Amino acid sequence: MTIEIRKLGEAAGAEVLGLDMFQPWDAETRGIVYQAFLDNLVLVFRDQVLTPPEFMAFSCNFGGLQPHVAKNYRHPEAEDIVMMTNVDKQGKFDEVGANRGVGWHSDLSYDQVPANGTLLHAVELPDRGGDTWFCNMYQAYETMPAALKRRITGKMALFRYGGRYGQSTEHLRPEDKAKPDVIHPVVRLHPETGRPAVYVNPYHTVRIIGMTRAESDALLDEVFTWCDQAAFQWHHAWRLGDTIIWENRSSVHSGKLDYPLDQRRIFMRATVRGTNTLAEARLPAVNTDLAA
Ligand SMILES: [Fe+2]
Repeated sequence: MTIEIRKLGEAAGAEVLGLDMFQPWDAETRGIVYQAFLDNLVLVFRDQVLTPPEFMAFSCNFGGLQPHVAKNYRHPEAEDIVMMTNVDKQGKFDEVGANRGVGWHSDLSYDQVPANGTLLHAVELPDRGGDTWFCNMYQAYETMPAALKRRITGKMALFRYGGRYGQSTEHLRPEDKAKPDVIHPVVRLHPETGRPAVYVNPYHTVRIIGMTRAESDALLDEVFTWCDQAAFQWHHAWRLGDTIIWENRSSVHSGKLDYPLDQRRIFMRATVRGTNTLAEARLPAVNTDLAA
């Protein structure tokens, strides 16, 4: 089996060719695919339709899996697989389900142990629209004006499920709605690549610690406006049989409700468990590289 990695976008995205997703990986396969995952932030595997147990087994190649907090979305045949659907149990359009994941965010960043990676496998797709968008947060940080970098480097922020503006939590259990805020760095040093990336996101970040709410809101708005640039973005246009994985430590992603809402859009999802960001190396509060 010869694996080939074909780059799809400037900011992110690569297709993995020549990989049989039903076979276990040897060390060489893991080395090639995992490095491509770190380098390209999003990997695409095409034309292989998977059952829930097959999708779960494939996802395990990237690390230990973590089921979603919302138990009603978990798959009965594969407990680490979550169904992402815009259809409710009566077969009607589910607005809460459809809106999950719309807005830039990094998965599980409302948890102290957020996700390293997320995999989706397309089950049913609308006939147009519904692409998934990604933003390269390494690039957003590296190209950021020095003055703005200085104001965020070394800072910590509070995160919660509802974020600053309280996204819907009605599908969560009461104990999950009451989850305490968690703390992550505003600029995260990737624990495997050692590269800094903007980690705050508009969906789950509440405020930067050590600032008033107004100061924090203004600074976060400035950072999010900077990050939301086409040059840092790439989007995946879905086909049936597609599986993708994305990097949550160095990218944010968003769905869009730009498809016909009377059409079904259903995915299986697996989440690769990450590490506690408070136990990771951090950028110093005063970064001498940025002192000038
Ligand atoms: Fe997400």
